[in-house]
Amino acid sequence: MMTKFLALIPAAGSGSRMGNELPKQYLPLDNHPMIYHAINTLWHNPLITQIIVVLAPDDTVWFKYDWAHFSKKLIILNCGGVTRAESVLNGLLAVKQLNLVNSNDWILVHDAARPCLSMHQLEHLINELAEDEVGGLLAIPVADTLKLGNAKHRIIQTQPRENLWQAQTPQMFRYGMLVKALNNIAHANITDDASAIEALGLHPKLVLSDVRNLKVTYPHDLVLAELILQQRSDL
Ligand code: CTP
Ligand code: MG
Repeated sequence: MMTKFLALIPAAGSGSRMGNELPKQYLPLDNHPMIYHAINTLWHNPLITQIIVVLAPDDTVWFKYDWAHFSKKLIILNCGGVTRAESVLNGLLAVKQLNLVNSNDWILVHDAARPCLSMHQLEHLINELAEDEVGGLLAIPVADTLKLGNAKHRIIQTQPRENLWQAQTPQMFRYGMLVKALNNIAHANITDDASAIEALGLHPKLVLSDVRNLKVTYPHDLVLAELILQQRSDL
């Protein structure tokens, strides 16, 4: 059986650090709701056959937009959980119910909050990992000097940055392994999928990316994301 590539976008967060009533995945960015951009890039990759979007059960915004253009690959699930990890796991289990996935298929989990992923970064990730035993993620080596601070914002120590990386998404793992990993860490406080795989004693591969694949967390990140999207030439 051919190994498939499926993308899963957890989009059930509220964007509390953004401080806007509208969940951040729907904030306007380059003439579209933010989540449009992640979908658009994943949709253009010919290897990815399905894009699963995991919304909050009480989401009332998604259906206000017209997604017909992407409909051949889109699967919308209203099964988001209290944490990102829960949203991802709920989405994975629901896809199994729909008989859409096999244990060996690749799942690319990509945050709705990373709208600037480029076609090239996505291709690079897939090329680097398609034959990998474990899977991995886009990441960038830490460039800044790192300080450990105390509660009063005074430096305790300078941390060596050698071998430190910042994790991004997509994070790409085999369906069976990812479900096992996320079930295994149930309720632990993790913020990415690789952490769950690491908890199995495995070593996901760090695939070199760059700062343009930024995560939109605070209002000023939106300004940067808009500039990056306007400069790009691949889509
Ligand atoms: N996410 C999710 N389910 C949750 C929490 C987060 O699907 N219960 C999704 C978000 O919608 C986002 C991605 O996980 O696409 C990364 O999370 P983050 O950037 O932290 O977004 P929010 O949790 O929405 O923002 P904040 O932490 O500021 O509240
Ligand atoms: Mg969050």
